[in-house]
Amino acid sequence: MLQSRRSFVRAAATSVAAASVVLPHLQAAHHGGAKKVKLAVVGTGGRSRRDIPNFIKGCELIGLEVDIVMLADAFEDMVMEAAESYGVPKDRCVWGWEAYKKVAESDAEFVMLITPPLFRPLHFDMMVEAGKHVMLEKPVAVDAPGCRRVIAAGEKAKKMGLAVLAGTQRRHQFTYLRNAAKVAAGAIGDIVGGQILWNTTVPWIKDRKPAWSDADYLVRNWLNWAEMSADHLGEQHVHNIDVANWFIGRLPVSAIGYGGRARRESGNNYDFFSLDLDYGKGLHIHSQCRQIAGTYSRVGEAFEGTKGEVLGGGKITGDDVSIPDISVLDQDGSVQEMIDWVQSARSGNPLNEAQQIAEATAVAVMGRYAAYTGEFVRMRDLMANASSPHYSYQVSVQPEDFERGSVVMPPENVVAVPGNGDPIRRR
Ligand SMILES: NC(=O)c1ccc[n+]([C@@H]2O[C@H](COP(=O)([O-])OP(=O)(O)OC[C@H]3O[C@@H](n4cnc5c(N)ncnc54)[C@H](O)[C@@H]3O)[C@@H](O)[C@H]2O)c1
Repeated sequence: MLQSRRSFVRAAATSVAAASVVLPHLQAAHHGGAKKVKLAVVGTGGRSRRDIPNFIKGCELIGLEVDIVMLADAFEDMVMEAAESYGVPKDRCVWGWEAYKKVAESDAEFVMLITPPLFRPLHFDMMVEAGKHVMLEKPVAVDAPGCRRVIAAGEKAKKMGLAVLAGTQRRHQFTYLRNAAKVAAGAIGDIVGGQILWNTTVPWIKDRKPAWSDADYLVRNWLNWAEMSADHLGEQHVHNIDVANWFIGRLPVSAIGYGGRARRESGNNYDFFSLDLDYGKGLHIHSQCRQIAGTYSRVGEAFEGTKGEVLGGGKITGDDVSIPDISVLDQDGSVQEMIDWVQSARSGNPLNEAQQIAEATAVAVMGRYAAYTGEFVRMRDLMANASSPHYSYQVSVQPEDFERGSVVMPPENVVAVPGNGDPIRRR
């Protein structure tokens, strides 16, 4: 039987009101039950404006106060804007390409990594080394070596008892949790097909300003560069891919597909992809994503089973099945994920989502390579087969190049051309 979500929310509100009561599970352990949570953030742009308030709200719901001990960004203007919003004093703000190192040295317990994905593996490695509980915004890499590095750091975090959250809020959203449990309990029978979609518009383009260096421009306009974002197949559609991996319970073995650019005039991303993801055992999932204004827009997941159908966290048909209780304090997965992260860290039973998000990211990388090259690409070519070019290929701009001042900007508006004999890149 499911417990009523209203009663959970009410219970939470009561515990917040009675602020002197320390919840029993928080007394256990890791940080001595301290009521203050020390947070630091690397990357104080758009998503941080959701993640920081969600973290504060999540902590409030479990009776904790948040102390923002450090805000870090590549750029002073970005970090100071965020500092003003949250009343963080200037001496707790750092900026520059090496600002993340100061966060590692800080006394933050919880660190959110919210930069463009290219930087995630490097920053994650360092935060784990420093013993921080980490939130990794999705996606977590732009190429296969980056995905494997995140998995390795995630394993290290496990050994160190650190909690690792991925910014894939659907995994913490009540409606998705309920449907995933029903699917696992056999409600729709065996999944025999499905579609995953992220069809919208280009979120934004930043035009270059004369004062910006190549490095500045790549980072300020990162969303439109494959090297920085993993293309929109990685940057947005990874949410749907992650749901497919979760509901199906395994990863695809290979991808074929295509994509291209019809309208975008910035960076080097494609603006549409259409892929066949082969999950083995005869199961094929159609993955489709597009960023073109004025076209049909739909975001979601649909899986057809032998007994019914499920639409992501929405409608589900098929057999009535009983599932375990699902307890959440907030309907919004973006808040609930913060609660789960903090509670798991403090209870000494830390969640660790590094592998699942690195694998979802790797599926997106596989799909991108399939579309960019026109080749048949296998997951094992990215994750296990060291003789495959896809295994070792790294994008031409590396995170350390920013620190060294050696960034070479890829040619703009020159996109990958399939079938030209180049295993991955442009003509
Ligand atoms: N979970 C979600 O639903 C969701 C939604 C939006 C964005 N995101 C993800 O969040 C991440 C950030 O996206 P955004 O929309 O906030 O982008 P953004 O450009 O608005 O913010 C990124 C910030 O990171 C800073 N930055 C860049 N490189 C840095 C570095 N090396 N060190 C420190 N700071 C650096 C930038 O200056 C900028 O302020 C991306 O991975 C994106 O995919 C997740």
